[in-house]
Amino acid sequence: MIERTGMTEIVPDWGSAVSAAAQKLADSGFEQSHRDSRALLAHVLETTSERIFAWPEKSISPEQYSALMKLVDRRLLHEPLSRILGRREFWSLSFALSDDTLDPRADSESVIETVLVNQPEMEKTSRILDLGTGTGCLLAALLSEYKNATGVAVDVSDGAVKTAQQNIIDLGLANRAEILQGNWDDGLEGRFDIIVSNPPYIVDSEISGLDRAVATYDPVRALAGGADGLEAYRQLAVILPRRLADNGLAVLEFGHGQAEDVGNILASKELEVIDFREDLAGRKRCVICRLITNE
Ligand SMILES: C[S@@+](CC[C@H](N)C(=O)[O-])C[C@H]1O[C@@H](n2cnc3c(N)ncnc32)[C@H](O)[C@@H]1O
Repeated sequence: MIERTGMTEIVPDWGSAVSAAAQKLADSGFEQSHRDSRALLAHVLETTSERIFAWPEKSISPEQYSALMKLVDRRLLHEPLSRILGRREFWSLSFALSDDTLDPRADSESVIETVLVNQPEMEKTSRILDLGTGTGCLLAALLSEYKNATGVAVDVSDGAVKTAQQNIIDLGLANRAEILQGNWDDGLEGRFDIIVSNPPYIVDSEISGLDRAVATYDPVRALAGGADGLEAYRQLAVILPRRLADNGLAVLEFGHGQAEDVGNILASKELEVIDFREDLAGRKRCVICRLITNE
């Protein structure tokens, strides 16, 4: 419904604004156009999609309508919804994104599931290390499950570290987490019961050919895995033996088709590959390893 206020001003209500935005998106082949439009309007109005859905008759100002349409134009250029909103949900926690962070992927939740399956003692006082933390999503998700654990997360990117620090504060985890800038474990001390990493694993020469939403909006430093995509695993294979506690567990994410190579790289050091775990699409997505013991 379109309401007229005064003689000239046309003020759409929430419902018709969403419909107009959704129509623009649908005309350009976007799926989920209503869901996205509700989320965009909620962002403009600083409210929730649920409220937009519940009160379609509420009116918005022409300025707010115009702000909504500007966001729709960004979406039409294939900017991911999460980048426009500046947030992404991971493991049911909300994370702010920045230009320096990867947009966390649902598939990376398999890292968390893998840790939980292999370390079911939730009350254990564990020390957790997250190498290449981005938004801080892996460490925060693990700390939300292991209530007695403390954690350290590292990223080489200053910008990512700042974003992760803020996320950890916003999630109420700051008293159990430390976010540091650095090159993998440089400057760290001690060993950890759980080590996780989702390192960069895209073959450098393949980055420009990735889906536009990835190649344009995810930072290169979060993607570039060297000439064969495996450079970070070679470095991590050296780091894990000096950082894992005796009964510790490391879970590393990797890309499609990299399971065998990553397993071989880890096994070439003092590490025992225990298993691989699949993602939502049924592809091998992470590897679980621990220190080789002499028992
Ligand atoms: C694929 S992203 C993963 C981010 C986050 N863990 C996630 O799952 O969404 C890889 C991260 O590793 C960081 N990184 C790359 N090289 C690094 C290095 N040498 N030392 C520390 N972090 C590094 C990047 O800046 C990026 O944030």
